[in-house]
Amino acid sequence: MQKLSIQGGVPLTGAIRVAGAKNAALPILAASLLVPEPVHITNVPRLNDVRTMVKLLGLMGVKTEAGEHDVRLDAASIGEPFAPYELVKTMRASILALGPLTARFGEARVSLPGGCAIGERPVDLHIKGLTAMGAEITIEQGNIHAKAGRLKGARIFMDTVTVTGTENLMMAATLADGETILENAAREPEVVDLARCLVAMGARISGHGTDVIRVQGVERLHGVTHSVMPDRIEAGTFLAAAAATRGAVTLEEAPVDALDAVIEKLREAGAAIAVGERTLRITMKGRPRAVSVRTAPHPGFPTDMQAQFIALNCVAEGAAHVTETIFENRFMHVQELRRLGAHIEVEGNTAIIHGVDRLAGAAVMATDLRASASLVIAGLVAEGETVIDRIYHLDRGYERIEERLGALGARIKRLD
Ligand code: UD1
Repeated sequence: MQKLSIQGGVPLTGAIRVAGAKNAALPILAASLLVPEPVHITNVPRLNDVRTMVKLLGLMGVKTEAGEHDVRLDAASIGEPFAPYELVKTMRASILALGPLTARFGEARVSLPGGCAIGERPVDLHIKGLTAMGAEITIEQGNIHAKAGRLKGARIFMDTVTVTGTENLMMAATLADGETILENAAREPEVVDLARCLVAMGARISGHGTDVIRVQGVERLHGVTHSVMPDRIEAGTFLAAAAATRGAVTLEEAPVDALDAVIEKLREAGAAIAVGERTLRITMKGRPRAVSVRTAPHPGFPTDMQAQFIALNCVAEGAAHVTETIFENRFMHVQELRRLGAHIEVEGNTAIIHGVDRLAGAAVMATDLRASASLVIAGLVAEGETVIDRIYHLDRGYERIEERLGALGARIKRLD
């Protein structure tokens, strides 16, 4: 199993281009199921999760051709509208096939994702929404089985803000008969990027980016070329790494409008951040100050940046409270960070971090994608060598991390 070795203590300096957003690419790839014509998606990050989604679509009979950073898909006809457990268990986002398949083919079987490392993560709201649109849904042998004639527009209120739930229902509604109103919809930039892609396919959507999305169903959608937005979580991770190592880094092709909460908190930590049209320049002089954060749906502070900010706080001046409100078991990085010398207590859904002067390298284990990003940040700061095991978690969300951080001066290498 591959590991990552980091010799810490080098401030990150230089420029880095932000990759396409994983969490926008996945629903956009799934949206190809809605269209009987070729679709070309560009600025696609080269990540394991993207490969899994392309594989899943291919298994269903979608013609797929993946280039370095683009994917061509043609779902003119499909074979089996089925997402098997072997793939769903490696990637929960497979659930994104449910809405498009039901809407276009009147049938879908998607294996139930079940629990995962960061919590229960039910999909009840996806199911409720499709049921409200007229689908008949049963759970058989661990599979969600949806059957429908043409879906009907409906008013759907989601009592929890769900990103993939909003995406699934928005996709399904594009081909439904009549108007669908999604209330308490997710406002995440990735939902907006998906909506932009669907609109370019001929869908009639308004209100994306607000908490009420209206979709007027159409008879059919057409092919499109769409460029995926840059990844705000990858960008935020690089910013946090630059701040923790007291570096100076320019992010190119940065999603400057999607990072308000993160930029605000980094400034509070003492970083200078210059925002250009498509660039972000961060300079951190001296030791960061501790910053407390509380995760919330967008435009609040993203849960996917929580672990990285715990890592930053580990070496900050003062104490910080980091509260996780979205997922119930998302502090697995804490015990690994302690192995590097961090002082962290956990009380319920809050981590209390007392900044220390120095961390020291050690062997640690990645437990999930963003947890592994926090270990990389801590490793970049720690004195001596940090070896991170199970970096397949990291490879799900960060493209060639060792090469790209290496270009910023980090002493980092992959061990086989
Ligand atoms: C997406 C992101 C993930 C991010 C998360 C929150 C993708 C592929 N993944 O995950 O990186 O951490 O948003 O920003 O885009 N919930 C229910 N019932 C449902 C669905 C969700 O109760 O039917 C709850 C979940 O348990 C969780 C909360 O809603 O507590 C938010 O989850 P959700 O937004 O659905 O997360 P994902 O879409 O899976």
